[in-house]
Amino acid sequence: AAPSPPPDFKTCSTAIISRGPPVSYSCCPPPLPKDTSTIPYYKLPPMNKLRIRSPAHLVDEEYIAKYNLAISRMKDLDEKEPDNPLGFKQQANIHCAYCNDAYRIGGKVLQVHNSWLFFPFHRWYLYFYERILGKLIDDPTFALPYWNWDNPKGMRLPPMFDREGTFLYDERRNPQVRNRTVMDLGTFGDKVDTTELLLQTNNLILMYRQMVTNAPCPLLFFGARYVLGNNIEAPGTIENIPHIPVHIWTGTVDGSTFPDGKKSYGEDMGNFYSAGLDPVFYCHHGNVDRMWNEWKTLGGKRKDLTQPEWLNSEFFFYDENKNPYLVKIGDCLDTKKMGYDYASSPTPWRNFKP
Ligand code: C2O
Repeated sequence: AAPSPPPDFKTCSTAIISRGPPVSYSCCPPPLPKDTSTIPYYKLPPMNKLRIRSPAHLVDEEYIAKYNLAISRMKDLDEKEPDNPLGFKQQANIHCAYCNDAYRIGGKVLQVHNSWLFFPFHRWYLYFYERILGKLIDDPTFALPYWNWDNPKGMRLPPMFDREGTFLYDERRNPQVRNRTVMDLGTFGDKVDTTELLLQTNNLILMYRQMVTNAPCPLLFFGARYVLGNNIEAPGTIENIPHIPVHIWTGTVDGSTFPDGKKSYGEDMGNFYSAGLDPVFYCHHGNVDRMWNEWKTLGGKRKDLTQPEWLNSEFFFYDENKNPYLVKIGDCLDTKKMGYDYASSPTPWRNFKP
């Protein structure tokens, strides 16, 4: 089987809201060079100092101010240069285009979820997003925070995202995420009445199951082989739970009504087309990405896939200098080589063997 090639930009078309109508604006990237076959392959730049991603609940005020400044500059670009690929909306639209049926390859819809494309696509996406934020504040060591939901101390919306009026706040969230509410990592919307302690314990049991018991080999962790246009949707363990529940928990209630009378499709976090419009999206995916690293330390057959059609699948991104590049999955297997790593945080779920 052939690897999944990069999307065919010329055919980028209207995206469709998951469970809803077409998106009312274009999610396609800003105008590209006429001859897209000249887009070069990305080479990992030489690195001086690792960017260290920290648990979001532990960062200090200085970091929060820096992060807010970087996001505010991204949002500024939306106003001043709507076609600038580094803008906040443009960055969110990347997710929309890759996930809401805007791209076709050989006539078939491209989808980066529910398969082995999931982990590597989002790793590359965050990689460039982080470098762009750093560039906008002139800090080459800027690193995203990660939402440490696999640790009891991180099982709530990180407080810096819950400050109204700041650039990390998003109005389009479910009010239940406010005020340090503990989340349930296993739910697709139903609520259980229980104590915080029991919720946290259940979350740890669930983490053990998704990381260890249910993911003893690569295909179960990464998700099914991706074949274009194939409708077999088989996400990896972590992609399915808790990745999706965290999205649903954070976004507005699907089917509810916004103050302006419009119907909610789960915006922002609860729908692929809008998820990137909530800054916490990238913090959530920081931890998803970190779980990939953690999983590889668990032993047994828990190693990266080796199939050439995985390693040679490609995506397209703009880098922090507004240059378009093609990237390969094979080049994103080692985060240290990519110039970043995760500050460690206890992983108590490792002790929750049934
Ligand atoms: Cu591309 Cu968390 O989804």
